[in-house]
Amino acid sequence: MNEGKPLVGILMGSKSDWDSMSRASNVLEDFGVPHECRVLSAHRAPDAVAEYAASAESRGIKVLIAGAGGAAHLAGVCAAKTLLPVLGVPMMSKSLQGLDSLLSTVQMPKGIPVGTLAIGDGGAANAAYLAVEILALENAELRTKIAAFRKKQTEAILNEKLELIKK
Ligand code: RP5
Repeated sequence: MNEGKPLVGILMGSKSDWDSMSRASNVLEDFGVPHECRVLSAHRAPDAVAEYAASAESRGIKVLIAGAGGAAHLAGVCAAKTLLPVLGVPMMSKSLQGLDSLLSTVQMPKGIPVGTLAIGDGGAANAAYLAVEILALENAELRTKIAAFRKKQTEAILNEKLELIKK
């Protein structure tokens, strides 16, 4: 399933976002979901972003994940150019620890939604899990995989052992 046409497009505003956004790619790899990763900035390459988002559905993409930091408008611009679900990941920024990215990604005016995840690495991974869940609505194999992942995760937490810490 990992080969063939990408079903998910992962975009990021800068190569400096890749350390976090690679978490999304890793999750999709684990689930065998074909995807593509691109650096495409809403302000440094606005025409390319518009063209990418507008043509994504016709190329077979089902979900877009967009990570950006600071005045983070990448996910919103993508959402404006496509009917596909767009998941936004606010990047941890140097000056405001990602609060700027979070607010600018999550506060989309009504009518053009961006499903916004948590700031940084966890949000990037969760965007991919959510993308898998969206794809699983029409893919029984993926549904089985996500159910197995959840079961394993539950077992791991229930089997945690705590050791005494003497202070
Ligand atoms: C945003 O500005 C990017 O998404 C990145 O998070 C942030 C900083 O970009 P660089 O200056 O590292 O390229 O556009």
